[in-house]
Amino acid sequence: MTAQETLPPIEQVYNPTSKEYCENPVPQCLALGNRGPLVWYEPWQAWIMTQMPDIMACWKQEYLSSDFYDWEFAPARPAEESWGNFERALIGHSLVADHDHHRLVRRVTAPAFSRNVVDEIQRRIEPDIQKLFDDLGQPESFDYIEEVAQHIPFISITRMVGIPEKYWEAIKPVIMNFTETWNPTISEERRNAAVEQSNQAIEILKTIIDERRSQPAENDFLSVLLKIEEENDKFDEWDIITLILALIGAGADTTLVGQQWTIYSLLKHKDQIETALATPDAFANTFSEVSRWGVISKMGFARYAPETMEILGQQVRKGQMVLMMPHLDRHNPELFPEPEKFDVTRKFDPDVLFGYGPRFCVGAALAKRQLYLTAQELHKRFPNAELAYEPERDDTDHNAIVFKKLMIKTNC
Ligand code: HEM
Repeated sequence: MTAQETLPPIEQVYNPTSKEYCENPVPQCLALGNRGPLVWYEPWQAWIMTQMPDIMACWKQEYLSSDFYDWEFAPARPAEESWGNFERALIGHSLVADHDHHRLVRRVTAPAFSRNVVDEIQRRIEPDIQKLFDDLGQPESFDYIEEVAQHIPFISITRMVGIPEKYWEAIKPVIMNFTETWNPTISEERRNAAVEQSNQAIEILKTIIDERRSQPAENDFLSVLLKIEEENDKFDEWDIITLILALIGAGADTTLVGQQWTIYSLLKHKDQIETALATPDAFANTFSEVSRWGVISKMGFARYAPETMEILGQQVRKGQMVLMMPHLDRHNPELFPEPEKFDVTRKFDPDVLFGYGPRFCVGAALAKRQLYLTAQELHKRFPNAELAYEPERDDTDHNAIVFKKLMIKTNC
């Protein structure tokens, strides 16, 4: 009998939908990592890439596909004649699918994510965050998720893109639910509903783009993109729409979860709050530590084998999913000494929280800025805040470890 055969089945070792994982993911993550660099995970019918150097190489070299339709279980790729708005935005000019086009989009849109534009976005988000806290007043206690965190993704995306307030009501459900269209594990019915909402959102985006064409504004994200469109033959209106949908898809859930964990971790370690919030750079490091310490993720970053190939000693069949899971290693004492200790000054080298290589997160600067602004505002308004009680974790979320409520006692 080989050593492999004597090991218990992988799903007994690692089960991110279990209560145990939700309470303490560390032992399961380390156990999965110990199984090897590329592990077949039967319940998800997917390979899991467990180690950082391999994940970084995969990120950098892009030898796997990011195109959902290359997945063996994806529905058939719709024929071009039958594309609706949604398919055109996601397949036709996809940021996700085609490597060359992706690189072009990233290169030409870099000015839209420049320091100036992010500063301008901050200027527009700040009053909304202050208003949220003004509306909250001075309660004895409140649920941070309900009152603050859940509003932030909507505020920052609408303000970032410059969606006028008259369209907010129509576009809100899309921003809150759009991530569903990217989730390979949801039912056909739920995906269809999300696609339908996206189609409506695309119509609204087209109207907003037309309006902005006739009234450009300086340092405004959409106006910058429209100028880029004018100057580049291969970047058109569908690229702008695709990019905005990508921002909605990638920027909503991530920051909602990031909010909860930032505040939870800081209130658990109040002696580190001043250091954490001293500068935006100090906060950026803090957020990497928050994510490391909390082991927040449950899933990984999906890629698909473009052909049958050998990866890290395993035969991977064309169409199989490979999930890169950089979070598995975050409590490995060889990489992070005293891993259970939360330390906002811990050094991260490399820091891959926002990815690496050509698909490095475009929203990284914005995400860190909005989390910083919100944590700072909370601390300013309620310097004596503390957790009212240890929050209960919600084990039904399939993407991340989240809390059902995050009750804060203000002591004011
Ligand atoms: C806590 C916050 C966030 C974290 C930890 C995070 C992390 C990441 C990571 C690791 C990737 C690479 C994914 C992959 O390789 O498959 C990524 C990609 C991306 N992120 Fe973020 N992100 C965050 C917030 C945001 C926000 C706020 C936005 C938009 C406003 C955003 C937009 C994107 C986009 C569009 C991509 C795809 C980039 C591409 O394929 O070129 N993210 N993010």
